[in-house]
Amino acid sequence: MDASAITVPFLGHSWKRVYWVDEPESAQHLPPVPMPASPAPAGAPPLFSGASRRADLVAAYPDLDALCDRLSFGWDMTLESLCSQSDWALLELARAAKPPRQARQADWSMATMSELVGDILITHHLPLRSELRRIDILIHQFCRRHPELAHFDLHGVYARLADGLNAHLDHEEGVVFPLGLAIERASRHPGQDVPASSAVTGAIRYMALGHQDAAQAIRRLLVVLRQVQMNTFDTDLGLISDALAAMLADLTQHEDKEDGILMPAVIFADELLRSRAAAPASTSHGSAG
Ligand SMILES: [Fe+2]
Ligand SMILES: [Fe+2]
Repeated sequence: MDASAITVPFLGHSWKRVYWVDEPESAQHLPPVPMPASPAPAGAPPLFSGASRRADLVAAYPDLDALCDRLSFGWDMTLESLCSQSDWALLELARAAKPPRQARQADWSMATMSELVGDILITHHLPLRSELRRIDILIHQFCRRHPELAHFDLHGVYARLADGLNAHLDHEEGVVFPLGLAIERASRHPGQDVPASSAVTGAIRYMALGHQDAAQAIRRLLVVLRQVQMNTFDTDLGLISDALAAMLADLTQHEDKEDGILMPAVIFADELLRSRAAAPASTSHGSAG
């Protein structure tokens, strides 16, 4: 590991100060976050989309291999071609896939920001996007089978949750992570452009608000799901409930990395860069005083 790497000290006082800064501004002209090596290429649609292939699905959900054989889902086929006649096979795959196992705990105290961002993308963002798609299939098909329960608006509540979470991931991948990586680069290579402080604070604040919203939205959905379960019996409701519980557990770990490690690291590195930039002026003032 590079000796100049930014480590991740905990700076609670700085976090609190930055969190409440108003006037968020979006980051402009930052390069996109390079997606680390993974089974899915950068920008690929989530699993359980029409373009998903068997190899991609089985890599993320190994339990699906035997079912793919039974469904005659060939290695060179896409889900779109498999399900061209009916959604039945898609629903069977969504039912058979078990939620991803929770990530192992790791010591991130000496990690670089790029290592942490890479882990967040691979361990949390990609599986979360796929699970959002898988749960959507389960809920959509359940609602089609049970039009008498439409007044619970289960799919509407879920769609708002999924839209919010996907927008949150887009914000992190498009704004927060590039900002953090730009700050890390600037700390290693003096003279590089440093993002405006207001862009950093605004982006981080928006990310933190997204975490609060996500937890509330999942709890709201779980309440609606319980109400639906009290009115009918359908084994898919149990699968949906299990998937949401696993998602909530993963979100806790995911957000711990972002709120507890990444954000303090970005804030620390940002303040360090600005104090370095201000050093000549403050030194001269200090000697005069
Ligand atoms: Fe995230
Ligand atoms: Fe997040």
